[in-house]
Amino acid sequence: MPHAEDFAKGLSIGIIMDGNGRWAKKRGLPRTAGHKKGAEVFQDITRYCNALGVASVTFYAFSTENWKRPEEEVSSIMRLFGDYLIKAFDYEKENNRVVFLGDRTALAPKYQKQMNEIEERTRSNTGMVLNIAVNYGGRPEIVRAAQILAQRVKDGALQPQDITEEMMSDCMYTRGQKDPDFILRPSGEKRLSNFMLWQAAYSELVEMDVLWPDFTRDDLDTAIEEFNHRSRRFGGI
Ligand code: FPP
Repeated sequence: MPHAEDFAKGLSIGIIMDGNGRWAKKRGLPRTAGHKKGAEVFQDITRYCNALGVASVTFYAFSTENWKRPEEEVSSIMRLFGDYLIKAFDYEKENNRVVFLGDRTALAPKYQKQMNEIEERTRSNTGMVLNIAVNYGGRPEIVRAAQILAQRVKDGALQPQDITEEMMSDCMYTRGQKDPDFILRPSGEKRLSNFMLWQAAYSELVEMDVLWPDFTRDDLDTAIEEFNHRSRRFGGI
């Protein structure tokens, strides 16, 4: 049987990191313990995607709806985001180009500054693109694109009938990137939850019955193999 490595090269993958809370509850631990383990898995899976030659991977770290959670949980996720993503990841060594998707202006100024610096520092890296969606929602992203194009129309630089799908794509946070080949959702849920709504038009959905903190490199191999067995027709026959 071929190994995932044989066909992982060049893939674009979206990952909804789900099930941290349930993982912690099962062990009688606070939900924040699930997020901490989830952040460790995030680092390991990122390194594995790099090793496999994946072209881009997008992690859903914090949605525009996640602010509704108790303040203590929100600040714990933000702290982990700072610790695991901003401080403790060697993007240079991994040669990743990092892009943050979402409205970062709602985050603490120190995080915004660090996010801008990481993007700037890794802009010319030629390896895997690592997208991190923080305060991200697919609908707000599409609204933002509409506002950018509406402004161009208002300025007289564009006619409404000349707006194309390519122009819309160029107004998304993922500008210039390939749409995800598949979107992976562990924890058994079968929803997109406002993740990459524009980009997911033809993405395969792969859901797995494993909670994110338990997710392993073997699970990613399984997901890639599952994707590889799907027949993608993009609306054709
Ligand atoms: C979903 O599980 C997970 C989140 C809302 C947060 C994900 C955040 C991290 C893994 C840590 C920080 C991020 C990075 C990139 C270092 P859930 O809490 O909804 O789980 P449940 O459905 O079992 O309650």
